[in-house]
Amino acid sequence: MKIPNTFGLDVEAAVFLEYDSVEKLEELIAAGRITSPYLHIGGGSNLLFTGDYEGVILHSRIGGIEVTTEDKETVRVRVGAGVVWDDFVAYCVEHGWYGTENLSLIPGEVGASAVQNIGAYGVEVKDLISSVETVNIQGVKRVFQVDECGYSYRNSIFKRPEMKQVFVTYVCFRLSKKEHYTLDYGTIRQELEDCPVDLKTLRRVIIRIRESKLPDPKVLGNAGSFFMNPVVPRGVFEALQKQYPQMPFYELDADRIKIPAGWMIDRCGWKGKSLGPAAVHDKQALVLVNRGGATGADIVALSDAVRASVREKFGIDIHPEVNFI
Ligand code: EPU
Repeated sequence: MKIPNTFGLDVEAAVFLEYDSVEKLEELIAAGRITSPYLHIGGGSNLLFTGDYEGVILHSRIGGIEVTTEDKETVRVRVGAGVVWDDFVAYCVEHGWYGTENLSLIPGEVGASAVQNIGAYGVEVKDLISSVETVNIQGVKRVFQVDECGYSYRNSIFKRPEMKQVFVTYVCFRLSKKEHYTLDYGTIRQELEDCPVDLKTLRRVIIRIRESKLPDPKVLGNAGSFFMNPVVPRGVFEALQKQYPQMPFYELDADRIKIPAGWMIDRCGWKGKSLGPAAVHDKQALVLVNRGGATGADIVALSDAVRASVREKFGIDIHPEVNFI
């Protein structure tokens, strides 16, 4: 069975299992169908398969967006792990719930959003999550409150190797009914021009910004940002800044500065360049694309070449954000 993946790689799983409820997942576990090795995927939008998978691929189709409690200011919603992330964002915008709109059009599903701590345009999903419901490979249920999830930039405890046996079934969000927006990232304010802000307008602007930079996986295989933005100590940053005064940066705290890897890759001259059928996207150098017929190995070769250039020019190691399988 073909494994869905947005890189458009032609890869097969020995076994592919889907379930649409917690009960069905429990039945699969009880029947011993989930044999090792196994891997739980979401929408396949952050994975790079370097070959066929000789094991069980699991995928959740648990749906549903259910309001659990609400008052004048806040709404709490419980969402199935298999709900398409952007369908959930659209639902929130329709209902006048504030929080998810800057995360419009991020590919993938709700379960993976909580594993990966997806983020864009000044918002991370950890700021909206209240708890994460799970079932493990022994069939034991556990609810993780947000402060037990170990969230940081594109990371959570669910990414630890020993947590591969824990499957997210539902994610609970706490959203606001009071009007508020996050507009300070990049060109959002400029793009809004003088339009009065509302949820629908902001969603439209975010979608427009993403569509102008990030390739549509249905047209050009990709997994969004391929690398994480490196975080460096202030001393390292200041030395670099002397050499490259125009280098963009974000201050995380007194000693930690995040530098956009896309900017460095761009300065290395990689934007729009190919290595065989794999290429660096011509509008956003942080994104690697499959120009057609690429294998996982082709993408890895390009990734290695890009990393070597960045190391040579800037003395910084950049690391893939995408998971290699
Ligand atoms: N830049 C360049 N050249 C490039 C790409 C970027 O000079 O080819 C510069 C930009 O001009 C800007 C800076 O680098 O000054 C940052 O670029 P951008 O705003 O496009 O964001 P990013 O840091 O490259 C991150 C996330 C994206 C997210 C955007 C917007 C990561 C790994 N990536 O990219 O997330 O959409 O910010 O918030 O943190 C994803 O994770 O798949 C993803 C797309």
